[in-house]
Amino acid sequence: MKTKRMGFTLTEYDKVEELPKQYATLMARAVQARKKAYAPYSNFRVGAAVLLESGEIVEGNNQENASYPSGLCAERVAIFHAGANYPGQKILTVAISAASDDYEVKQPAAPCGNCRQSMAEYEHKQHAPIVILLQGESGPIFKCESVADILPLGFNNSFLSDS
Ligand code: THU
Repeated sequence: MKTKRMGFTLTEYDKVEELPKQYATLMARAVQARKKAYAPYSNFRVGAAVLLESGEIVEGNNQENASYPSGLCAERVAIFHAGANYPGQKILTVAISAASDDYEVKQPAAPCGNCRQSMAEYEHKQHAPIVILLQGESGPIFKCESVADILPLGFNNSFLSDS
């Protein structure tokens, strides 16, 4: 019997001014995207900004639906848009901003499990980590060095064949 410890390193910035400029710009784009979210049911708005290796930034936000499960999170709207329109380009960073119409979100909102799995697909495909930046409406910014860090023991296509 063996016990293994799985952990990861998270960098916490106290405020956006502490971020390297490129990350601050990306987070500002996530905030812009968040403000265009369609979230009439939860009033919880999320924006995601995806930085591609070309320097281009792709945005997405949560799109809710009267049939609740038919809606989609911001991260998947953004990353699927990147995958659909820039299939050959590596994704360097995803910034995620969350806020509520009803109260102040003071802590970063962590991406849901489905979004982690969806982002992990692209990270696995490109053989390079995707840095994740998270922030609420105010409060600290978390930086995670890869999607794999926040989805330990994840499933990927290596399980689908024996090669
Ligand atoms: N949401 C996101 O957009 N991203 C996440 O990672 C977590 C949740 C959205 C889905 C739904 O529209 C609202 O936030 C409340 O769950």
